[in-house]
Amino acid sequence: MPTKIEKDSISGQLTTGHEWDGIKELNRPLPKWWVYIFVATVIWSGVYFVLYPSIPGISGYFHGLLGYSTRDTVEADVAAVVKQRSVYMDRIAALPYDAIRRDRQLLAVAETAGRIVFADNCQPCHGAGGGGSPGFPALAAGNWLWGGKLADIETSIVFGIRGGHDNARQSAMPRFGVDAMLKPDEIQAVADHVMVLYGKSTVGSPAGAKIFAENCVACHGDAGQGNREVGGPRLASRTHLNADDRATVVGQIANPRMGVMPHWNTRLDQATIKSLTLYVHALGGGE
Ligand code: HEC
Ligand code: HEC
Repeated sequence: MPTKIEKDSISGQLTTGHEWDGIKELNRPLPKWWVYIFVATVIWSGVYFVLYPSIPGISGYFHGLLGYSTRDTVEADVAAVVKQRSVYMDRIAALPYDAIRRDRQLLAVAETAGRIVFADNCQPCHGAGGGGSPGFPALAAGNWLWGGKLADIETSIVFGIRGGHDNARQSAMPRFGVDAMLKPDEIQAVADHVMVLYGKSTVGSPAGAKIFAENCVACHGDAGQGNREVGGPRLASRTHLNADDRATVVGQIANPRMGVMPHWNTRLDQATIKSLTLYVHALGGGE
């Protein structure tokens, strides 16, 4: 019930005239500076609403008079980086390998690009830094199946190996066991010979050596030195495509694994493939 406005005897302030059960309300308005700031922010929010994207709609939103959009800003930034990069990438695509390698800055750009693309696309099979894993060849070791020159590496990447491309590298080790080309004891004997070539056994098998000479040398070389024409691995080596235990060797002879390497010509552009080639070549095994 409104009562009259009076002066409070304790605080010396005026009351508002409101009173509840004998409790009176002092008239303590908000400080002026606070009210002004409040009004200013309300006005500012109105201005902001008009200038910047604000009111959502059903099929879009009000874009604001300034037309500002974070998406546009990001797109402009990305376009700037792509443009900057394309200067290098265009040159990498256009120049022959030896010219790229003579240009230290360009080579650094190519190898950095190659490293990033390798980590995204190749590392799952070939391991970090091309270290390889059973069934997936090490690319840093220098024990190449198909060849370690820049042109060889590029061909392997562009067309792949047994991956279905018309120009893919092809070769198939015969299935000596599955197709009954060798008897089980002959497979064991030739596996003994392979273990000698691997340097993991000194107990040779004359019978195994004979079977090897008759069946294997075309692709693996008479001394197990390999044959790059057909991607036949060097067996006289300490690094191998597959695991180097005897059971794996027996399994390979009976039913070869025939690993598949995808082709990348439809997935990566020319400059990226050349960058990858330079990166792989520089991993340690390049010829
Ligand atoms: C799905 C697994 C897989 C992926 C992914 C893969 N590779 Fe391979 N790659 C293989 C296999 C398996 C071989 C060996 C095939 C054979 O038996 O000859 C191989 C062989 C190669 C060779 C030939 C090696 C030699 O000794 O001659 C090169 C070079 C190569 N890969 C590079 C790459 C690069 C670069 C990438 C990424 C763009 C890549 N690979 C991605 C599985 C893969
Ligand atoms: C027509 C060619 C060809 C013939 C013949 C052939 N191989 Fe192979 N061999 C290959 C190829 C290609 C590979 C690697 C491909 C794969 O399995 O992924 C291979 C892989 C191997 C490996 C695994 C090597 C490693 O680094 O892990 C062994 C072991 C092997 N062969 C043994 C033999 C033996 C033993 C014979 C004879 C009984 C033989 N091969 C005959 C083509 C041949």
